[in-house]
Amino acid sequence: MGDARNRNLWGGRFTGETDRGFAEFNRSFGFDRRLFEVDVRASIAHCDGLAGAGVLTTAESNQIKSALKAILDRGQTDAGYFDEPSSEDVHSFVEARLVEMIGDAGRKLHTGRSRNDQVATDLRLWLRDEIDRLAAALRGTQEALLDLAEAHSDAAIPGYTHLQRAQPVLLAHWCLAYFEMLARDRERFAEVRRRVNVLPLGSAALAGTSYAIDRDAVAHALGFEAVSRNSLDAVSDRDFCIEFASAASLVMMHLSRLAEDIILYVTAEFGFFELSDAVATGSSLMPQKKNPDSMELVRGKAGRVFGHLTALLATMKGLPLAYNKDMQEDKEAIFDAADTVNHCLNVTATVLRNIRLNEARARAAAGQGYLNATELADYLVRKGMPFREAHETVGRIVVQAIERKVELSHLSLADLKSFSTLIEQDVFASLSLEQTLATKAQIGGTAPDRVAEELKSARGRLQ
Ligand code: ARG
Repeated sequence: MGDARNRNLWGGRFTGETDRGFAEFNRSFGFDRRLFEVDVRASIAHCDGLAGAGVLTTAESNQIKSALKAILDRGQTDAGYFDEPSSEDVHSFVEARLVEMIGDAGRKLHTGRSRNDQVATDLRLWLRDEIDRLAAALRGTQEALLDLAEAHSDAAIPGYTHLQRAQPVLLAHWCLAYFEMLARDRERFAEVRRRVNVLPLGSAALAGTSYAIDRDAVAHALGFEAVSRNSLDAVSDRDFCIEFASAASLVMMHLSRLAEDIILYVTAEFGFFELSDAVATGSSLMPQKKNPDSMELVRGKAGRVFGHLTALLATMKGLPLAYNKDMQEDKEAIFDAADTVNHCLNVTATVLRNIRLNEARARAAAGQGYLNATELADYLVRKGMPFREAHETVGRIVVQAIERKVELSHLSLADLKSFSTLIEQDVFASLSLEQTLATKAQIGGTAPDRVAEELKSARGRLQ
């Protein structure tokens, strides 16, 4: 490993010392130590690969593997182990510890391997575990949505378009809307996971390995479903990071919309929800304030994850084949994206479990402001009027109701008849909130029976 003057991995070619400032700039150990466990796991599999190829004797490979296991053990129990100022990255750290422990046998482990295929392998192993963790967090948030829906299965809220009251919907229907978004997110992560789960190790620096390593066996040992088919691509492909950041960005976009709805609904102006003290904050100046900081942070952190996606795309754009050090920038982006999404999912689930619904106020809002106007048009359609004419007629009725400052159901039958003789006494039943909801009975609609079915099937989909 070079002499005392140059303790880098590339000692032989170099006679001069690395500039201190540059060495610090070049180092990734401060963040890629996070790959420690997967780096050791991949090294153990590579060791078996080398033994299988006849590069290492059984005795050597056993010695290396037990040393690697001891290193893993130490790293998992002793945080101070990583206070190692001289390591450039996690790969050189592990190798240096190995050589410290067992000398020459340890120096053989890097045969047929480069940090280029090593780091790609580590990253994929790490991301695979992370995707599993995020899938569980997604499921947790979906569960919280279903619990909220089931706790208030007949509560109604106004539905909005253009943030104007549009038609009433069940609160459960609103919950299930976010459930669907997160269901697609889980699917997306599962698809990304398939492409993450491919082994680059054996590609070496860029051209492939010259040792008869059984790559399928290494893949199998590490739980990879396939081996990469082209060494140039394998060491320089970061599509899987970009796809991950993209799927993560969509989760954040969904959470930011949910956050925004909640932020609106806890205002005095809407007043549908109240957050418990556990997930709100106060003001240092205004004693009356109760702020939805939890949801504002979730909304705000979406921008940060989108930033990571953009950064990864920009880093990869125009890079010549194969590995380039630019790619070291991938790690902080995906580490932070994964952590941020995980935190935001967990906090969102906690917030959902700490929502108090003001059912009366939400119901009143759902029943005020002509949210049943479409229902009246549908009533006229059922009586034989073409929809366009019905739309026009109801528009004029709404104008009159606004002038009189009353709801549609408070107009007299005589008044209504003056707009269309098709209108009869049974119109009033049609205008009720219950009826307005109940008519949306096709798949995907907000009718209570339909939503109850969807809730049940959503529970099933979570299993
Ligand atoms: N720390 C490096 C990275 O994160 C590891 C690969 C370095 N390879 C090299 N040839 N310098 O990308």
